Amino acid sequence: MARAASAQKICPLLSIDDFVAGLRKLREADFSGIEGALQYMRRRRVDPESLQPYLFWNAQHYTRNLIDKTELYELLAICWEAGMKSSIHNHKGQNCWMAAPIGRLAVQNYRLISEDLAAHSCNIVPTDVVHMTAENPVAVDPLNPVHDVRNRREWKQRAVSLHLYSRPFDSCIVYSVEQGTCGEIGLGYTSMYGKLCA
Ligand SMILES: [Fe+2]
Repeated sequence: MARAASAQKICPLLSIDDFVAGLRKLREADFSGIEGALQYMRRRRVDPESLQPYLFWNAQHYTRNLIDKTELYELLAICWEAGMKSSIHNHKGQNCWMAAPIGRLAVQNYRLISEDLAAHSCNIVPTDVVHMTAENPVAVDPLNPVHDVRNRREWKQRAVSLHLYSRPFDSCIVYSVEQGTCGEIGLGYTSMYGKLCA
């Protein structure tokens, strides 16, 4: 379950390079719970212009664009055309923080009632929705981590979200409410460090 930040305030814009430079100064403890990195994101807004080298668009699917990766974390920009949504997924036990420097996104949370990965079966139910914007970063609740992300068609605008994951992970479990199924999928990048992947 993603939680909205409780306090909102207007923070100065900084470039993605400066945002990354600050991230690299955080300690391991800032990533082991959700509060440290959430505070970091709540006190900064990334200048959308500075994200341009990392933005790649695809009319069929959202794109995953790697900005920075260390042993502790990875930082991605995800580009969403209007109407796009992710699968319902978890984060393989890793922490996740998100903000939307461009546009807005809805995070639909789910409660996982049961899961049998070997049998590819699950029982999940939708719970609450939180809205993610530049001023309102959210953290995924490690106790209820299953969610999807939506750029609603009626908003009629593109969105770009920044996703900070700790530690990096390259697969996750996806779920279907209607079919009661689940399964593991691999995760790749559309681009890395501003260059399209083959
Ligand atoms: Fe996610």
